[in-house]
Amino acid sequence: MLLAQTAVRNVGIVIFAIIIIGLIVYLFFNLLDSKGEGGAEIELAANRKPYFDDDILETRKLDLSLMSGLFLLSVIGIALPLYWLGEPGRHEGLVENTIELNTERGAESFEESCSSCHGGGGAGGEIAFAITEAGTGNFIASVDWVAPSLTSLLTRFDEDEVTHTLNFGRNGVMPAWGAPGGGPLTTQQLEIIITYLRSVQRDGAAVQAAVFDGLVEGARAEMISRDADLSAELAELEFGVQVARQSGLADQIEEAASELGAFQARTGELFPNDELAAWVEEISDPGHEEYLTYGELLFTNRADAGAYGCARCHTAGWSFDGANDFDLAGNPLTTIVDEDGNEVAGYNQGGGWFGPNLTGGSTLSQFPRADQQIGFIEVGSTDGGQYGAAGQGSGQMPGFGERIDSALVEIDEFGNELERVWPASLTEDQITAIVAYERSQ
Ligand code: HEC
Ligand code: HEC
Repeated sequence: MLLAQTAVRNVGIVIFAIIIIGLIVYLFFNLLDSKGEGGAEIELAANRKPYFDDDILETRKLDLSLMSGLFLLSVIGIALPLYWLGEPGRHEGLVENTIELNTERGAESFEESCSSCHGGGGAGGEIAFAITEAGTGNFIASVDWVAPSLTSLLTRFDEDEVTHTLNFGRNGVMPAWGAPGGGPLTTQQLEIIITYLRSVQRDGAAVQAAVFDGLVEGARAEMISRDADLSAELAELEFGVQVARQSGLADQIEEAASELGAFQARTGELFPNDELAAWVEEISDPGHEEYLTYGELLFTNRADAGAYGCARCHTAGWSFDGANDFDLAGNPLTTIVDEDGNEVAGYNQGGGWFGPNLTGGSTLSQFPRADQQIGFIEVGSTDGGQYGAAGQGSGQMPGFGERIDSALVEIDEFGNELERVWPASLTEDQITAIVAYERSQ
């Protein structure tokens, strides 16, 4: 369609050029004609000049005028219908052209405003953030906060919900970009960025592969945590990284990071990917005694900076690895109380943060039956919409099932209108496992 559009434009330009050249030639000869005349006005007046005789007038001259008239008529007769025939194509070409242009322009603004935190192409990243004391604003620690991948964003949120997040930012970490939140970008600039984001959304297979990679990584962390020696060693190395960072000395930072890297390489060999993958498959069976661990791995999935998990919104401190980050006094930024009543580094998993507390039976009273809870997690909340027994949505709880966007209609090769379907982030089996885990907490 774009081709059709430029072809029509080119023909237009050629015709225009021919007309202009013709005009110049006409003016030139006209001017020549008017020169070189001398003598009395009475002989030179236009109506006194001898003209063609009748023979020529009735044959050559007449034929020429008729022929040129006919020629012009046929040009108009062919060009006009052709023009109208091209009209729908031009219209579609314009729409496609606009989308293409906006995608390009959106890519530029994304690189400029978003990629420093969300990674190139929205692949996910992290950002240095200062944790301060509520009330006093005193510095507590500098942490790396994950900025989720945006390559499956449009399956979890509709475009109005995304616009809301862009307008107002999120939790003081993600800045406000739109004018309503005091940000620098106009509504149109935000729309253009969202048009670009459509072009980086992954297909269902890629999303599922990423989810599974995250489960394997989570399984390795789980194996380390079950081994007292390894987990003590890891805690020490993580502490070393924090101390080195606070010292600000490049040598120390590098050394601490390389020690942690060596530990990761060693545990990578100790717990190889294929074995972990097989274990994840095994515990995904609802009859397996570790089925709830499978649900927890899905809940805390770190793949693509937490995009497919729940912990980043429902667990305080998870986004900056708060159980392994330390304040200036060397205390972990998040602590829980163990069986012996001691405070130790850890998360109150699902204990609530940006999203509500899901533990202590709260989801059981919100959703008396598991299938109601599964249904809610599949579609997420809407702004102002009621859910469960007494839930009031803000539109910020994502929907993890497939999402159909009827505003993004595409025409297929047979001329049928197709609504845009964004593939699910999590399968129904995966959501069922998460719900079983949540309801046990
Ligand atoms: C300074 C770093 C930073 C910049 C710049 C930034 N973001 Fe974010 N963004 C974040 C963080 C961090 C989060 C997660 C916040 C949280 O944990 O609640 C986030 C969350 C989001 C979310 C919600 C995603 C989800 O799945 O919940 C969207 C959408 C988003 N950002 C889009 C953008 C776009 C588009 C831009 C550029 C206009 C942008 N961000 C620029 C840091 C940033
Ligand atoms: C981007 C942040 C975010 C993520 C990620 C997220 N949630 Fe939520 N969730 C919320 C918010 C916010 C609410 C409260 C409802 C609202 O404001 O719309 C909520 C509400 C809920 C509720 C209802 C709780 C109640 O008592 O009202 C459940 C259950 C829930 N989320 C489960 C999940 C599960 C399971 C996942 C992961 C598959 C998840 N959430 C991921 C933000 C999030």
